[in-house]
Amino acid sequence: MTKFERIKNELRSEPKVWLITGVAGFIGSNLLETLLKLNQKVIGLDNFATGHQKNLDEVKSLVSDSQWSLFTFYEGDIRNYDDCERATKDVDYVLHQAALGSVPRSINDPITTNAANITGFLNMLNAAKEQNVKSFTYAASSSTYGDHPALPKVEENIGNPLSPYAVTKYVNELYAAVFAKTYGFKSIGLRYFNVFGPRQDPNGAYAAVIPKWTSAMLNGLDVFVNGDGETSRDFCFIENTVQMNILAATASDDAKDAVYNVALGDRTTLNDLYATIKEALLTHGIDVKGSLQYRNFREGDVRHSQANISKAKERLGYEPIYRIKNGIEKSMNWYITR
Ligand SMILES: NC(=O)c1ccc[n+]([C@@H]2O[C@H](COP(=O)([O-])OP(=O)(O)OC[C@H]3O[C@@H](n4cnc5c(N)ncnc54)[C@H](O)[C@@H]3O)[C@@H](O)[C@H]2O)c1
Repeated sequence: MTKFERIKNELRSEPKVWLITGVAGFIGSNLLETLLKLNQKVIGLDNFATGHQKNLDEVKSLVSDSQWSLFTFYEGDIRNYDDCERATKDVDYVLHQAALGSVPRSINDPITTNAANITGFLNMLNAAKEQNVKSFTYAASSSTYGDHPALPKVEENIGNPLSPYAVTKYVNELYAAVFAKTYGFKSIGLRYFNVFGPRQDPNGAYAAVIPKWTSAMLNGLDVFVNGDGETSRDFCFIENTVQMNILAATASDDAKDAVYNVALGDRTTLNDLYATIKEALLTHGIDVKGSLQYRNFREGDVRHSQANISKAKERLGYEPIYRIKNGIEKSMNWYITR
């Protein structure tokens, strides 16, 4: 039995109270689905800045009525300290996902990104500390590696940030470390590398590449790649990310006050990604009409990204189950049926 299986069994027999911030978003709603299916009590906080009621409705349709009754939703804003205080009351484990994602969004509007990602983060961290929660796990980001050239990325070696978004995510890590040192409040930061899967928003100017391309391909449109398509990423299926959150939340004290890469340890170029999505759609009988169009490189983008996931494996017992191909396959099912 894997460590993750063992922890899930323990949670089933002794349910806990969880807070998920950003619960109406892509990663937050997937965490909600898994935790409710494990009969956990869940509090959710979101201001619908980029999340959607339809994500919550979908989770409701995937769990039983009694599981859904374990969920309490607060519409609120992490920039407002009172909302953070209210949400963290009597909570065991916090999974802090709320933030404004996207490098280009942060370049266009650094002020709003800063408020949600830094002020909001500090509010949540402090409120969780004041409420003496058992653990605080937060969404960090691979963007913190910035201009460091080494591949694969090892947690201890980071470069200079390349965007306002990357600054905000690095500041989260700095605050987390200072809270451990100053107050003895130890948290875990999860440096996500390009997460993908069901409920990731395909719409809007700041959509991530997999949902954006899939949606265009399903509609017979061309898709656009920034640069020559040889830019590469370590794409990580959502279920691996959910596993890491649960392992981190329940980790022993000596695994805390640390950051961990959350990825597969593989590197896929955008040209290969396009071919993989096209092939997955073909297996569903969908012949892609559009083509891949190349345009200029995008400001703030890192050229290559690939994680070393040894630390997460050794210290948290992380065992990613999904590789990119089967993750894409599961995601295509979702996009096609919507
Ligand atoms: N998806 C990825 O590949 C990826 C990679 C690295 C880091 N992350 C981080 O993971 C987290 C979740 O990302 P996601 O992909 O699910 O994005 P998402 O936009 O789908 O979810 C973010 C959620 O946070 C909510 N939110 C934003 N500002 C808020 C505020 N001020 N108060 C309350 N709620 C607020 C949004 O409404 C949304 O529901 C974010 O912190 C993001 O920076 C994601």
